[in-house]
This record gives sequence, structure tokens and C-alpha cells, in this order.
Amino acid sequence: MELTNIPYLASSSSSSFFSSYCSSTCRGRRAGKLFLTASAAGGRSADDLAHSQLFEQENEGALSGPRSSWHYKRREFTSAIFLPFLLPHADIASAAEAYDGSIIRSGVRNVLTKAKAAGVLRLVFHDAGTFDVSDKSGGMNGSIIYEVDRPENTGLNRSIKILGKAKAGIDDIQKVSWADLIAVAGAEAVALCGGPEIPVRLGRLDSSTADPAGKLPEETLDAAALKLAFSTKGFSTQEMVVLSGAHTIGGKGFGSPVIFDNSYFKVLLEGKPQTSSSGMEAKAMVGLRTDWALTEDDECLRWIRIYAEDQARFFDDFRDTYIKLVDSGVTWRTA
Ligand code: HEM
Repeated sequence: MELTNIPYLASSSSSSFFSSYCSSTCRGRRAGKLFLTASAAGGRSADDLAHSQLFEQENEGALSGPRSSWHYKRREFTSAIFLPFLLPHADIASAAEAYDGSIIRSGVRNVLTKAKAAGVLRLVFHDAGTFDVSDKSGGMNGSIIYEVDRPENTGLNRSIKILGKAKAGIDDIQKVSWADLIAVAGAEAVALCGGPEIPVRLGRLDSSTADPAGKLPEETLDAAALKLAFSTKGFSTQEMVVLSGAHTIGGKGFGSPVIFDNSYFKVLLEGKPQTSSSGMEAKAMVGLRTDWALTEDDECLRWIRIYAEDQARFFDDFRDTYIKLVDSGVTWRTA
């Protein structure tokens, strides 16, 4: 099958997803290597719906036999299930895997709004950011659900609750791990706010316990300490800077709270707000101490300038580093 002849695929910018997708479906399955891409616009058109219905008609006998409740539940997600119809009938088993990803994404889209996007993206860092390369502890394992009472996780219970609603609906059809759900939801949050589309590999297993405490960087760290903190998680200075660009959305005052762009870096270059005569900072709500600390380090500053000038570069590097973040310390499903 020539992928570029298919309108939806040809118009997508997520070429890396489609090569991954193809290798895990069209050319046979590699255990645990399932991929999904987030797309703000893709997969919701009338065309997609028509294609899904066409798929169901064509595969009626092969897929399910009697119409089970599972079959009917699956239909609720029809509008977002647009990939399997692309597969030859012989690949029905692989198609089931592609359904998994579509169902997760559809479930997330049902609960996610732009206003909730920042909290969901923060959740990703607070789950994955516990990773420690030295002993391979922590990482993207869903353990955040046991860690909400920690001071650094204040407010994240709201995001967990939102995703919990999606999880309940998805679990009815196909069990999803918290780790996969959060990884997909963060990518959807970025795309929903106009950021890059990020392909997310699926198959993370959840931890049944909390990760070690004290692993996330504190707000009071200077640049040297931040670099050290991120290096213990396997991230370079450039990767730390680009991930910090996530603060462009949310309530920290960098540009619009619901638009994922390179405002974060532009605002950092404008300089730290000055203290007024009354002792109050004119723009006291802009950024964290750690955000401004990045501007005091030459290496960080070099990357801040690059991303402030080149949003496409920011998007590309953010996508790559997000993938690394959500794959940190993962135990992958093997079957
Ligand atoms: C450099 C180390 C970091 C520190 C010290 C830090 C700390 C914080 C703090 C204190 C907040 C404010 C929470 C609140 O308003 O209640 C925040 C917000 C946020 N953080 Fe970070 N963060 C860091 C890195 C990251 C990374 C790497 C990501 C994601 C890849 C991220 C994503 C977010 C997002 C999206 C928000 C906005 C949440 C909202 O407004 O609801 N942060 N961060």
C-alpha cells in the first residue's frame, strides 16, 4: 500500500509516526511497539467517519462475529477510529492494536479542553521526571497517582481526576495504563494548544507503588543545580531548556496560557521584571525563579535565543525531547 496516496496521510506532518505505524502493522508486529500520534485537527472529519464505517462494513464478519457489547462500545469511538481501514484484511490482528491507540486518544479528547491542557502537560513531567538514570528508579510509570499529596504535586489531583474520567471510559473497552494515558494526554494537550504533533509509543506498564520522593527539581534551584538535576534524568542542557518551554502554556504569564508557541523564550529574552519602588515586581506573576535562572547561564541562554528566533526548531526539539521524557524508565509490555 502506498501511504502517500492516502489523502489523510499525505497531508499529515507526522512522518515519523507513519513509519513507526507502518513497521508495527503493515510489515508485521513488534511486541509492545505500538505508536500513536497526537493531532489537533486530524481524524475528526466526515471523511474519517465514512472511512471508519466503510471499515466496519468490510470487516464485519472477520472482526467480531455476534455484535457484542464491546462492539457497540467501540462504535462510540467511531469518529476517531480512522487508521485501521488502511490495512489489508490479513492484518486484522494488527488492526486491533491500532484501535487501542485511537481509543485512548478519543477518550482523552472527550475530556480535554485548552484550559485543562497545561495541568495535563505538567502531569507528564511530574510522573516521568522522577526518573534517575543511576539506579533506573522512577520514570513514566503512572506512579503520580500515589504521589498527589507531595507538595511539588499540589493541584495535580485535578488533572488526574480529569484523566480518570477518560480512563474509566477507555478501560470499559480496552485497559489502558495510567502511564500510556498520561503520555498520550500530554501530547494531545500540546497539539490542542497549537504545538507540534507528537507520536507516542504505547505499551507502558504501571508501577503499583509511589516513586522515591525528592526527585523533581525545586523552584529555588539555580542554573547549575538545574543542569545537574536534569542530567540525573538523562537530559542534556539543551533538552532541559526545550522542555522548560512547556511553561509557555499555563498560568505563569508567558504569552497566552492556552497557546503553545515560543513566547516563553521571547519573554525570557526581554529580561526579568524590575522591582518597583513599592517593592512589588511589576510583572510578579511572570515565570518561576527557575525560568529566570536559565537566562543566567551562557549555555542555556544560547538555546533560549535559538528557540526565541526559530519556533519550528523549538517544536522539532520539543517533540523529540517529549518522546524521550515519556519513554524515561519505562517498563514496556512484552505481549
Ligand atoms: C525546570 C524545572 C521545573 C520546575 C522547577 C517546575 C515547576 C513548576 C511550578 C512550581 C509550576 C507552577 C504550578 C502552579 O501554578 O501551581 C509549574 C507549572 C507548569 N509546569 Fe513546570 N517545572 C519545571 C519543568 C517543567 C517541565 C519539564 C514541564 C513539562 C515538560 C513542565 C510543565 C509545566 C506546565 C505545563 C505548567 C503550567 C501548569 C498550569 O498552569 O496549570 N514544567 N512548573
